Amino acid sequence: MFSATPSTAANKTDRYAELAAQARALLADEPDRIANAANFSALVFQSLPDLNWAGFYFYDGKELVVGPFQGKPACVRIPLDRGVCGAAARQRQTQVVPDVHAFPGHIACDAASRSEIVVPLVHRDRLVGVWDVDSPLPGRFDEEDRRGMEMLCAVFIESLRG
Ligand code: SME
Repeated sequence: MFSATPSTAANKTDRYAELAAQARALLADEPDRIANAANFSALVFQSLPDLNWAGFYFYDGKELVVGPFQGKPACVRIPLDRGVCGAAARQRQTQVVPDVHAFPGHIACDAASRSEIVVPLVHRDRLVGVWDVDSPLPGRFDEEDRRGMEMLCAVFIESLRG
């Protein structure tokens, strides 16, 4: 059973490295994607400050469908040509959005969200989905967060079987 240990990280990069190690341990012995996605989103949501939503959208071959998450109920389906999630999936590039109101086509699931980061999840060259994190603070995510979230997502991708 996982138990959260108090962080000893001196800075944000160390904090992400610590979280990646915790995520690796949490996901190591479990092949079920939904179980791992649920625990992954809970770990991140509980561990990082100033978040109001953290979770997965999985690609069903046509559009993105909401998966395990923490936060308020969210929009269920997102076409690839819509929103920050669609942009990350289409371009297969992490989107760091300091002001969601300035992002054309942003989809507001929780009106409290002011900034957002979305990391595409690609396994064996196939789009699996996206990892989406929202904050009520403007400009919450920077370059360190991008690297950190990508490192965390690599742990999730490693846990995928098949
Ligand atoms: N804001 C996202 C939609 C998902 S919610 O933030 C949970 C977007 O524009 O794609």
